[in-house]
Amino acid sequence: MLYELAFAIHMLGLIGWGGLTTGAYYLLEASGVRERKILLGYRKLVYVEWVSLLAMTLSGLYMWDRLGMPPWVYPAFALSPVIALGEYYHWRLTYVGDMDIFLKRMRILSLFYTLVALFLIYDMVFKPA
Ligand code: HEM
Repeated sequence: MLYELAFAIHMLGLIGWGGLTTGAYYLLEASGVRERKILLGYRKLVYVEWVSLLAMTLSGLYMWDRLGMPPWVYPAFALSPVIALGEYYHWRLTYVGDMDIFLKRMRILSLFYTLVALFLIYDMVFKPA
């Protein structure tokens, strides 16, 4: 029961981490809205992203322990400092004050996050030894 709960939290965390700001970023790109104050709202989504990532990590650690600490989870541990740095950079970007610079830098960060997320999803779904 607790395992299933942790799994559900892990999946909700994935949505909160990967979905919210990605959606907001695509909306900014597609809509052409360039009002700087929108970054205040965007920053709040980054905080939700942090909480989601924390929930993912804690639920993941719990499941990892329950599964007997399988090695296929190691890539997530190896990538966590990189993800943490990315989150810090993401948050700092909300202070740049120029929407064009923000979107330009976000393009690179978004590509980076997409690659990291695809790799980790592959790792967790296929569980290579
Ligand atoms: C330190 C961080 C993490 C740990 C310790 C961790 C650990 C785990 C564990 C133990 C499972 C359970 C697998 C099962 O019962 O089948 C799991 C599932 C999963 N994790 Fe993570 N995880 C972490 C971060 C992430 C991240 C960052 C992502 C996405 C980018 C992710 C995506 C997934 C997915 C999609 C599943 C479901 C796989 C399936 O059952 O098919 N995890 N994770």
